Amino acid sequence: MAAPVSYLPGKEPHARERRLIFKNVDRQGYSPSIDAFLADGGYEQAKKALKMERKAITDEVKKAGLRGRGGAGFPTGLKWTFIPPNNTKPVYLICNADESEPGTFKDRYILHQDPHQLIEGMLIACYAVGAHLAYIYIREEFPNAAKIVEQAIAEAHEKGFLGKNIQGSGFDLEIHVHRGAGAYICGEETGLIESLEGKRPYPRIKPPYFPAALGLYMCPTIVNNVESLCHVKHILEMGGEEYAKLGTPNNTGTRILCVSGDVKRPGYFEVEVGKVTMGEVINDLCGGLKDGRKLKAIIPGGSSAKVLRADETFKLKDGRELTIMDIPMDFDTMAACGSMAGSGGVIIMDDSRSMSWVINNLNNFYAHESCGQCTPCREGSLWMKKISDRIAHGEASPDDVDTLESVANQIEGKTICAFGEACSWPTQSFVRKFRDEMKADCKPELAGQIVAKESRLAAAGLPS
Ligand SMILES: Cc1cc2nc3c(=O)[nH]c(=O)nc-3n(C[C@H](O)[C@H](O)[C@H](O)COP(=O)(O)O)c2cc1C
Ligand code: SF4
Repeated sequence: MAAPVSYLPGKEPHARERRLIFKNVDRQGYSPSIDAFLADGGYEQAKKALKMERKAITDEVKKAGLRGRGGAGFPTGLKWTFIPPNNTKPVYLICNADESEPGTFKDRYILHQDPHQLIEGMLIACYAVGAHLAYIYIREEFPNAAKIVEQAIAEAHEKGFLGKNIQGSGFDLEIHVHRGAGAYICGEETGLIESLEGKRPYPRIKPPYFPAALGLYMCPTIVNNVESLCHVKHILEMGGEEYAKLGTPNNTGTRILCVSGDVKRPGYFEVEVGKVTMGEVINDLCGGLKDGRKLKAIIPGGSSAKVLRADETFKLKDGRELTIMDIPMDFDTMAACGSMAGSGGVIIMDDSRSMSWVINNLNNFYAHESCGQCTPCREGSLWMKKISDRIAHGEASPDDVDTLESVANQIEGKTICAFGEACSWPTQSFVRKFRDEMKADCKPELAGQIVAKESRLAAAGLPS
């Protein structure tokens, strides 16, 4: 019998939340130990899975309509079927715990507070795809998470949920933690695989190197995000059809939104996909904008997602016209509004923010993180940084704003990996939507003022 759930004072979930994955995050009396997990019904779904036909598990995940929570929203069950049917090589599963997209801070809570939920999800997924060796690739910046997960793996071994002949099923599985060295590009699945192989994380070109066919050591490899893998256990518990009733059609289940920026109560919120609007996120979940401030812009799905302006309206194919506040937080509507739900990192910006400064901040990040393998990305990200540096410092001419956009246009679609899009979409969208503001910033008399003001805001943590 699972114990009743209560949360630490001040950490109680909002009434609009539906907690599946974050059920044990901030839970009173809960710990990352296997005892706490078992007392809550942990590993029961894995035991059930080990008695099922492998294909039946994948079918449930497909029925559930689960879409990957790592960024692209690709259907998880479908990805699992891409392993070549006549494969004779070993199959690997990799859990992507790089969590490198700025604005995203969800996977770390699972790793720190509920690691066995992830291990159970991985065990079920490995059994379904026929993998006997799996890796959890954890970013360098999470040293405690790596220790906690390693401890959890040792406990799972001790209780017979990892190792040989798991729970008498005849199925063997080992999971290893692999620590990254702090590079954004190691979150990109093929860069991650290269890194795991001990090499520089240069992403591989797709095709032919789709990991499900040619992944780790050129063997079929399933790469899934931490949150995606955790959902698998809940899908088995509820059944695919029941799970699919959560959320909205084609956008099923729950997902964790990570809200940062200019709201009263930033934080993480697990909601049914598409069942809350952007306005409800800001006003209900986050307690509204800061006093006296107006909404200016939102990056809805991690820093690579295109920015949305507060005063835009979005015309959908079905005839609906939405304001920014009406947009349901789901994959398809966000794409139809010209951006993406991505990794769930929602960055709210009010009218105290300088858009020249924001895009400069992002471009500094992308120039630093380009792996340098392709010329448009390596050179382009550096030029976007240099030009936006000049704009933010009042040292540019208005024409530089147009040049900035043209550099971004030369990167998109011309690179080996999707970092090319990840770094060009922010610049393209900021320039297209805030061109006048950025051009107005190109005045020698403003030199140093924008950056000085943003530094003051950052230091104070409050809008001026
Ligand atoms: C530049 C870049 C960085 C990425 N970083 C991450 C990351 O930190 N975590 C993650 O899960 N996926 C990240 N992805 C997406 C992965 O390549 C991959 O699609 C994902 O891990 C698949 O998991 P899912 O299907 O469960 O979403 C990134 C992609 C790109 C292009
Ligand atoms: S697009 Fe950028 S990050 Fe990706 S392979 Fe090319 S240089 Fe590297």
